[in-house]
Amino acid sequence: MTQQYPNNLFELIEFMRNQNIPEAEYWKRICKFLETKSRKLHIPVHGNFELTPFCNFDCKMCYIHLSNGQYDKRKLLPVSCWKQLADSARKLGMRDVQLTGGECLTYPGFDELYKYLVESKLRVFVLSNGYYFDENRIKLFEKYRPKLIQVSIYGSSEEAYEAVTGVKAFKRVYENILRIQEAGLPLKIAITPSSFMREDVEALISMAESLHVKYGVNPQLMLPRENTGRSKSDLTNDEYIRIYRFLSSIHHEELKTVERSQVPEENHGGQQQYGIRCGAGRSSFGIKHDGSLCPCLSLDDITAKPLEIGFEQAWKYINDMSENYPIPLECGDCVYQKHCLSCIAIHKDAPEKGHCNPVVCERMKMLVQEGFIPLDRICKH
Ligand SMILES: C[S@@+](CC[C@H](N)C(=O)[O-])C[C@H]1O[C@@H](n2cnc3c(N)ncnc32)[C@H](O)[C@@H]1O
Ligand code: SF4
Ligand code: SF4
Ligand code: SF4
Repeated sequence: MTQQYPNNLFELIEFMRNQNIPEAEYWKRICKFLETKSRKLHIPVHGNFELTPFCNFDCKMCYIHLSNGQYDKRKLLPVSCWKQLADSARKLGMRDVQLTGGECLTYPGFDELYKYLVESKLRVFVLSNGYYFDENRIKLFEKYRPKLIQVSIYGSSEEAYEAVTGVKAFKRVYENILRIQEAGLPLKIAITPSSFMREDVEALISMAESLHVKYGVNPQLMLPRENTGRSKSDLTNDEYIRIYRFLSSIHHEELKTVERSQVPEENHGGQQQYGIRCGAGRSSFGIKHDGSLCPCLSLDDITAKPLEIGFEQAWKYINDMSENYPIPLECGDCVYQKHCLSCIAIHKDAPEKGHCNPVVCERMKMLVQEGFIPLDRICKH
């Protein structure tokens, strides 16, 4: 007899026991279950606060950073507004809050806001470029522990750093990473490949490996916001494949390549479907530096003003728009849907509005051909 999928956590545990799921997998399944529930119940569990668009670096691919001439510093939201936003989001169910920017550690009220959020029993994630971790900051994080500090690294030498960020910051960021590690703080490294980083990506992966720290490689670049004046500077599909091959070789994974003729074509000409597939606007949200609420900081074409109309009403609007968001025509019935980064924001620069970005489709097929996605996992209709 097939058992019905569980309605609550007790039933989930019973379900996992009956199905002989290994206990090591329980936590992952519980998180997935809670995430699905939050989306069904429209609970905004994960918040991303873009405290400032300003930054001490000027990365050439950055989709957010504005310089002094592009935005008036006096318009930054005061700490009291962020506290108000956090309180109202928490009342609706926010559990996690990610502080980002620009560089959030340059936001004038960072320390005060950070303490407040941790004391409010929120799980706080800090996204940083790693430049401003002096002794006082480390003490702050030791006393008020974050759930995670994510440091992006942009080069394996001073020259490489400068080519991406405009600043020779390698030594300083590297030493700060060691400091964070020594303090025993939860750390993850982020690597964002771009046409300015090129082959240095592999050197950065090796560096993260040698530091024995968790790390992630950003799988795609977003189109920078219009007011940044920047254009997209993504790597080519071949370059991404080169990076994935390098990662596989580090982890001693054997890849089973297949003939291109065996690789299924993506489904084109399906029916228009609606509703964002990831958590954006469904269980997660972004608040931009000007206080506007959006489904995700990379998807800011739908916004509401929580400081004017109240968080609850603003969230209802964003949630409703996200549940009814038209997804690219081709993606609706596509065989690659499950594997395809499921990121609606990546299609913003598609040649035709409402359609998918063909570079992404080609990447999916290359990933199957190269053995990164096993052929039998492609769901055929
Ligand atoms: C915008 S930054 C803000 C936090 C911090 N300043 C940093 O660099 O980590 C957050 C993350 O976005 C990545 N990023 C920058 N530009 C991007 C783009 N065009 N598309 C996707 N991710 C990007 C950064 O490398 C970083 O890992
Ligand atoms: S350090 Fe982060 S916010 Fe600053 S310019 Fe680079 S990517 Fe953008
Ligand atoms: S972008 Fe992905 S899901 Fe959409 S059509 Fe292309 S391969 Fe399919
Ligand atoms: S997958 Fe894309 S749209 Fe969804 S939250 Fe992530 S960046 Fe935003």
